[in-house]
Amino acid sequence: MTQSSSTQQVPVVSAVPNHIAIIMDGNGRWATKRFLPRVAGHAKGVETVRNIVEACIDRGIGFLTLFAFSSENWRRPADEVSLLMRLFITALDREVSRMHANGIRLKVVGDLSRFEVKLQEMISQAERKTAENTRLTVTICANYGGRWDVTQGFNKLLALNPEATAFSEDQLAPHLAMAYAPEPDLFIRTGGEQRISNFLLWQLAYTELYFTETFWPDFDSKKLDDAIASYQQRERRFGRTSEQLLENKKAS
Ligand code: IPE
Ligand code: IPE
Ligand code: MG
Repeated sequence: MTQSSSTQQVPVVSAVPNHIAIIMDGNGRWATKRFLPRVAGHAKGVETVRNIVEACIDRGIGFLTLFAFSSENWRRPADEVSLLMRLFITALDREVSRMHANGIRLKVVGDLSRFEVKLQEMISQAERKTAENTRLTVTICANYGGRWDVTQGFNKLLALNPEATAFSEDQLAPHLAMAYAPEPDLFIRTGGEQRISNFLLWQLAYTELYFTETFWPDFDSKKLDDAIASYQQRERRFGRTSEQLLENKKAS
């Protein structure tokens, strides 16, 4: 099933965001502040992932998308990159059974071809194992970039329609890496930076943005609730006026 785009159709909005997308930032600074190696921050960050996944289940959230490794993160020192890969493998190894038992469907999106074969196999095995689960879809964006996503989607579309000279938004959307999910309702970035860093460029068109100074290892369910509370204060107009929204409310 593919989801319609917020620029083509006004989506249904509920009090609890159905899809939360998070840039998990600040692991390195969390560690440095404690005179620990950066990787200690990443390890602590994995614990936060576990807690936030559980918090999302408790709150009835349908989709949680986590930016774990960007297409630009290869620019980091080689030892940090390889430690991040080890951590990813260990986390998959340890967490998949628990996720499956909790009714979680796991997806990993990004250009996975650059990962070692063992990791690629673990990913596809985990996805296959959890494919039928419906309680919460957790997407890990790994070697992901928003521009990569739009480009790969476009290339797929072109391969299927080599004769076409132009495409519409609706035609491209089903070929994006996260076509199985609705667009995010709420975006959270921890760690204090106020930028998108090539995350879900297409899908964030009408997402509510929330930035917090809290480093990812310190983020918890209470802080998630703060973000949701901020989201609940927003008026999501999707191009319409406040008056129109009020009229719609009265009519329903
Ligand atoms: C985010 O934390 C995790 C990854 C990018 C893998 P950082 O490692 O970017 O932490 P800071 O921003 O340096 O504190
Ligand atoms: C964004 O964080 C990517 C992830 C959290 C995986 P970065 O720390 O890499 O972003 P920049 O470089 O500060 O923009
Ligand atoms: Mg960072």
